[in-house]
Amino acid sequence: MTKANNITWHQSTVSKRDRQLINGHKSCVLWFTGLSGSGKSTLANAVDHELYKQGISSYVLDGDNIRHGLNKDLSFGNNDRKENIRRIGEVAKLFVDSGLIVSSAFISPFREDRVLVRSMFEPQEFIEIFLNCPIQVCESRDPKGLYKKARQGEITDFTGITSPYEIPDHPEIIIETNYTSIEQSIVQILSYLKEKKIL
Ligand code: ADX
Repeated sequence: MTKANNITWHQSTVSKRDRQLINGHKSCVLWFTGLSGSGKSTLANAVDHELYKQGISSYVLDGDNIRHGLNKDLSFGNNDRKENIRRIGEVAKLFVDSGLIVSSAFISPFREDRVLVRSMFEPQEFIEIFLNCPIQVCESRDPKGLYKKARQGEITDFTGITSPYEIPDHPEIIIETNYTSIEQSIVQILSYLKEKKIL
């Protein structure tokens, strides 16, 4: 629902297709989802670096970073997580419209929110990548020491412990990050992009 009245959509002069043509590749969103510590930021950045080396225009939207700025007014309660994902969906849409391959690294724990974001895009543009990693492994990695804090009750609503993570129904790509190296994961994602003629 829009709160503002009297607003009119203005059509861009340069289209998404024009921008894709000049870039020499299509644009899309690589929507990484999974538990904290499953490898979303690491892999999103690794893919971004590989695309950069290949001269492909790309960018990363990262949960922790975006929560320092655009979304610093949001908590980890269910409604704020929903709003977090809605906003990122909109931002990702702008990036796709600008002709880039955008990787988003957000837990995005709720199926309904991911379905909503998917519905904002054309069918081939939204690529959901589920980083499937058992919570025991994520917890043993605990790169930021947050699982420890959550177990001690110092963090409330912690995904996988005191807040749910709903597994994606039909992700385009599943990566078992406890068995797959970063290099293998990059190959898996780039092969998908080539197969779908995005690259
Ligand atoms: S989401 O659920 O709204 O998609 P988002 O990806 O933006 O989450 O932020 C998750 C990151 O915030 C985690 O990687 C972790 O570093 C940090 N974090 C801090 N508190 C929490 C919490 N209660 N639950 C999950 N992650 C948290």
